[in-house]
Amino acid sequence: MRVLSVASECVPLVKTGGLADVAGALPAALAGHGVGMRVLLPGYPAVLGAAAKAPAVREIPELFGGPARIRRGALGDAVLYILDAPHLFDRQGGIYLGPDGRDWPDNPQRFAALCKAAALIAAEGIEDWRPQVLHLHDWQAGLTPVYLRQAGVRDVRTLLTIHNIAFQGLAPAHMLSALQLPAHLFNPRGFEYWGRISALKAGIVFADKVSTVSPTYAEELMTPEFGMGMEGVLADRAGDFTGILNGIDLDAWTPPYAAPEGKAPHRAALRKEFGLPEAEGPLCVVVSRLTGQKGLDLLIEALPALLENGGQLAVLGSGDPGLEAAFSQAAARHPGVALRLGYDEPLSRRMIAGGDAILVPSRFEPCGLTQLYGLRFGTLPLVALTGGLADTVINASAAGLAAGVATGVQFHPVDARALSRALSRLCALWRQPAVWRRMTENAMAHPVGWDASARAYAELFGAMAA
Ligand code: ADP
Ligand code: GLC
Repeated sequence: MRVLSVASECVPLVKTGGLADVAGALPAALAGHGVGMRVLLPGYPAVLGAAAKAPAVREIPELFGGPARIRRGALGDAVLYILDAPHLFDRQGGIYLGPDGRDWPDNPQRFAALCKAAALIAAEGIEDWRPQVLHLHDWQAGLTPVYLRQAGVRDVRTLLTIHNIAFQGLAPAHMLSALQLPAHLFNPRGFEYWGRISALKAGIVFADKVSTVSPTYAEELMTPEFGMGMEGVLADRAGDFTGILNGIDLDAWTPPYAAPEGKAPHRAALRKEFGLPEAEGPLCVVVSRLTGQKGLDLLIEALPALLENGGQLAVLGSGDPGLEAAFSQAAARHPGVALRLGYDEPLSRRMIAGGDAILVPSRFEPCGLTQLYGLRFGTLPLVALTGGLADTVINASAAGLAAGVATGVQFHPVDARALSRALSRLCALWRQPAVWRRMTENAMAHPVGWDASARAYAELFGAMAA
């Protein structure tokens, strides 16, 4: 089975969130399931810089305002195709945001170009290789099925995977011709969305299959509370829409200890690194983008419940200035709270190794990866009962404890009161060493790798290409 994965970010080359981890992990995870996956990425400086001497394998004389070429590089053992289009991707700044912190004004063209290149590869093949399925990630790859239709390609199937419905790839209607889109599909049954073009909606409507990254988020997306306006279109596609959980790379995320008590030196080192005193309560960690999605404003409100029970908090993240300020103030005020602003993967590992619990109080969470790292490291996840957090953590409810299967704490509704109670519960569990130990063992034994989900993707691709 030949699959081309089309993504806007991918580890280890370029990452702003979990999408990059998933796009980076899938080729290797699928290799054992009979799927040969190649990856197409935009040629940002970070991508081209890591692919010295990547030969050009296809010239594109004109692509949304300039010449481009597709280069061949490598992503581990997988083939990487890089869309080298300097007028679109060779610039200093973020991959989505300019130096002013706003979307690059030409983002619609930049990612339309990625979709065009994917459609070109599907139509013509490349290096004597032609994909049977295109695996499209988020809005950045969403226009691909439209360009495929335009090119008259009928024998290549498409799967759109939604990692986050909040990003819908909107462009003003007057860009129809600039994006080389067919005007007759600009209507509510096509890619028109409240008077604008939505690349995400294009993918939802025109891809052969649609998936998201957990079964619960798939259900949630078809409701007004979570669908962010796309619930109707998704419900229309219910028969072709499924949720497949993300996994994590078990080799990249291996705890530096085999049993929970091995945490002790890492916990001590983490307290030292963050300047936190010894304490009679769980050391909780947060590793997150600081945005409204992640519900961390609720954690600020609920902090007393943690601190009064002897718990501590170490936060690593960056994002919303208001949240950054709120955590800075909390850290200045309470000796049990410490903050590192920024993005730091080695530090995130030390935190997950040294922490007793990891907090993920998200308002919505398509899958979430940090609770999976927490499970693997015996760092108990305390999570909102939503999306992938609902599908990966077994709550320390009366039933979960009685059966001896609990791996964490879940709370609902997602508000500060329920979070406060959950933090108190977490601390009460911590004071029962036998229960806590059992939970950490359960957590470390919980399967969080790609195995089951890689099989699910392989089966889906297989059914699509049949
Ligand atoms: P999302 O993609 O919505 O941000 P995920 O949980 O799927 O959420 O993925 C986030 C990824 O980014 C995880 O790998 C997490 O460890 C990492 N991450 C987030 N913030 C930071 C940070 N400040 N420093 C290091 N890693 C971070
Ligand atoms: C998105 C979601 C996150 C998910 C990730 C990878 O960024 O916010 O929940 O884990 O994509 O699928």
